[in-house]
Amino acid sequence: MAELRGEREVPRVFVEYHVGDAAVRLRQRDNNLFYEVEEPALTEIVRKLLDQAMDEYVKKGTDPEKLAEKYSRRLDSSEAVSFRYHLLRELRGFSKLHVFMHDDQIEDFTITMPGPVRLIHRLAPHYEWIESNVVVESDEELDKLVKLVVERSGGSITPASPVVEILTSNFDRVAGVLRGEVSFHSSITVRKFPRRPYSLARLVRLGTLKSEVAAALWLAVELKCNVIIAGLTGSGKTTLLNSLLLQLPKNYKILTVEEHPEINLKDHPGWLPLYARLPTSPAARQTAISLTQLLKAALRHRPTVIAVGEARAEEVQDMITAASIGHGTATTLHTDNLEHMLRRLTSHPMNLRSDQLAMIDYAVFIVKMPDGRRRVKEIYENMSGKWEPIYDHESGKFKLPEKIGEKLAMTSRGLEPHELVALEIRRRAEQLRAQARREEVVAAV
Ligand SMILES: Nc1ncnc2c1ncn2[C@@H]1O[C@H](COP(=O)(O)OP(=O)(O)O)[C@@H](O)[C@H]1O
Ligand SMILES: [Mg+2]
Repeated sequence: MAELRGEREVPRVFVEYHVGDAAVRLRQRDNNLFYEVEEPALTEIVRKLLDQAMDEYVKKGTDPEKLAEKYSRRLDSSEAVSFRYHLLRELRGFSKLHVFMHDDQIEDFTITMPGPVRLIHRLAPHYEWIESNVVVESDEELDKLVKLVVERSGGSITPASPVVEILTSNFDRVAGVLRGEVSFHSSITVRKFPRRPYSLARLVRLGTLKSEVAAALWLAVELKCNVIIAGLTGSGKTTLLNSLLLQLPKNYKILTVEEHPEINLKDHPGWLPLYARLPTSPAARQTAISLTQLLKAALRHRPTVIAVGEARAEEVQDMITAASIGHGTATTLHTDNLEHMLRRLTSHPMNLRSDQLAMIDYAVFIVKMPDGRRRVKEIYENMSGKWEPIYDHESGKFKLPEKIGEKLAMTSRGLEPHELVALEIRRRAEQLRAQARREEVVAAV
């Protein structure tokens, strides 16, 4: 896939790969990164035939595949590839945005006014929004593209209903706005659902957390503890949560509740995802479905573990209710230290009482470092309201989690809890290390 080129190139190309018949390069430009798309070349003859084929399509409605076959006969092989690519891109695909819609390495892409398409690349998210060489020339062109992407993703956008958010069949989220009453320019932002979620072993390989720490968190979630993963935006909370859930036994039922699809457990047979329906206008408020409503419904599905994509408000109450009747729970929370976390959980709108707070077993703090890597910084264990640090990255100190030991001791007799937890963590850490050695790690740009 990704190919790393030598340093002699000026300006330097970091990565080059293909998206269908188009080539994509991430290259250096003015101290920044630049996303370059090279689609199959449009020669004079290809252009001419495309015009004819489009004309035939409009007049006779001939099937695009048939058109491609018919016209290609008049072209040499590379021109035929180009013809087919451009024809299908226009008639079935996403026109200028085709590569952006299909490149799984893109995390989000956006156009908020005429100008270059901008994107966040999975290999270089720390560069934030980088520019591409694909440029939308005018407001009229942007209107057309927004409509095309929304419609070909299965939605509709009109001046009467100019703000839409839709979920495509591969769980990508398309947010579109048509200019006029609500905005100066039409705009579109597409958030791509991760195709290949990070495994826990991959996070170990990337140095996000040590194998023992990973093993402890894995055990905590498997033993139906109640875990909060805390950190700032983009620190890797959801990624860590996802990787822990993927470790769960196949006979677990995992219910995830989110506002936007981010958690991807397609590899787990027991996954049931539920998504909130957000009100897109005051009129739509009545048909909105909140995380709280989903959590109440979730309990009827008899889940083993319930995960909330990101807890923001009163849904925390429902999560604690689920925890109190024996479900395992896990969520992410936007906060960067223990004190802030406790303050957030106990004040409006979460409003947890101290007996509810006592249900939470572990708090994990993750940070994004200046070089773009992520690191689990601290883990606390809640011992009846006293939050004991059990892991601290700086000092390297790791204390065996007591609650996990107690839970293990309930199912296996003979050994002391601390012996059981030590053994189990060692066993799982070894397994993760072996897996991590096999993980292919794409060098960060
Ligand atoms: N451990 C990690 N190492 C490297 N990159 C990561 C890691 N975790 C996440 N990322 C990158 O950061 C992006 C945002 O991560 P995410 O888990 O959604 O953050 P958060 O939920 O904290 O906002 C991911 O799409 C991924 O590209
Ligand atoms: Mg998140």
